[in-house]
Amino acid sequence: MDALRLEELSARTIVAANGLTLRPGQEQFVTPVSYSAADAYVNPTTTWARVVLDGDDVVGFIRGNFDPDNPRPEFRSCIWRINVDATAQGRGIGKFAVHALADEARQRGFDTVTVIWETGEEGPGEFFRRIGFVEIGETEYGEKIGALHV
Ligand SMILES: CC(C)(COP(=O)(O)OP(=O)(O)OC[C@H]1O[C@@H](n2cnc3c(N)ncnc32)[C@H](O)[C@@H]1OP(=O)(O)O)[C@@H](O)C(=O)NCCC(=O)NCCS
Repeated sequence: MDALRLEELSARTIVAANGLTLRPGQEQFVTPVSYSAADAYVNPTTTWARVVLDGDDVVGFIRGNFDPDNPRPEFRSCIWRINVDATAQGRGIGKFAVHALADEARQRGFDTVTVIWETGEEGPGEFFRRIGFVEIGETEYGEKIGALHV
């Protein structure tokens, strides 16, 4: 694995990010209901999105939302989407992407990053716990809300 780096979205990388694959059983965890329900109301200016590159290959995608005035605290400084290509999972890429988003949050003056996930065998809960998120509550849909101090 070459050194990982982040890039803003471009015509080339958007296509590659849309083509990222999932492991069997992961599809249902990519977009928790809370995010699909809220997506229509997100102000595009509060979105922060990056691809993760390993050499020239797009291996992951992360999107955050930074919106200090959002009425819902779990949407003020949060991971909105993260996925790592099926062939590249388990090599530290997800952790790298979350740390980059945490740096961005800190630079914007936040001290916490939150994320919402759905529980389940193939879900990302263990990943988030492993990298330091602690559960702070549940959404109205029964998803977990996790927080990481940055
Ligand atoms: C969740 C996801 C982004 C993790 O990415 P990844 O690159 O495979 O994770 P990493 O290799 O950076 O793992 C970091 C740590 O979490 C652990 N981890 C990752 N997935 C895990 C799992 N399913 N179960 C247990 N531990 C896990 C790793 O072992 C590693 O531990 P270590 O630091 O002690 O070695 C990836 O599995 C994915 O794209 N899933 C599908 C989409 C999804 O569910 N997104 C979340 C929406 S809320």
